[in-house]
Amino acid sequence: MGDRLRIGVLASGGGTNLQTIMDNCAAGRLDAEVAVVISDVECGALERARTAGIPAHWLNRRCKQRFPTREAFDGAVLERLQEHEVGLVVLAGYLRMMTSELVDSYAGRMMNIHPALLPSFGGPGMWGHNVHQAVLDYGCKVSGCTIHFVSRDTDEGPIILQRAVPVEEDDTAETLAARILPYEHELYSEAIQLFAEGRLKIEGRRVRILPAASA
Ligand code: GRF
Repeated sequence: MGDRLRIGVLASGGGTNLQTIMDNCAAGRLDAEVAVVISDVECGALERARTAGIPAHWLNRRCKQRFPTREAFDGAVLERLQEHEVGLVVLAGYLRMMTSELVDSYAGRMMNIHPALLPSFGGPGMWGHNVHQAVLDYGCKVSGCTIHFVSRDTDEGPIILQRAVPVEEDDTAETLAARILPYEHELYSEAIQLFAEGRLKIEGRRVRILPAASA
């Protein structure tokens, strides 16, 4: 396998998805390396990157002098990604709405994870425990997680992988989130490895997973 895929991770939270990806890269389970981690807030994900010796950039979204507009902020994100020669952008709990310029710059090379079975329980405002509470309030019997390519509309890009997880009678948003998270970690690395092997083909709304041999 030639040069390893260089991943840029955008995150705004604790960073457990990032940690699993870094661990799998270090252990050779992924033909990739995390080249840079970028966040709009000081957060656990940046701490984890620093501990692993990976370049970590906090772009303070509250600094209106540096980032007077969303375009200015995303321009800085794009600069960092290009500076680190990122081939795949991985959103892992990144809570900022992105401009179409940033999304288009990585069309077909930017993935997101959502803690529900899209297209249900997705869209603006549907993040973290809000998602799991909505699943419970609706009375669903299964939930799960989804990895998809990012498009201009929140949580609407073509789906790469999904995993269904049962909802238990006495679930709360916290217990449901905790049951789904390990599947997220597993599924994200599976999707990244498929991308690294060149086995993902986007055909309109669908993502075809090509057999290993023909890649
Ligand atoms: C995950 O549940 C993910 O599905 C959602 O945000 C959470 C991030 O968790 N988009 P972590 O920061 O990776 O632990």
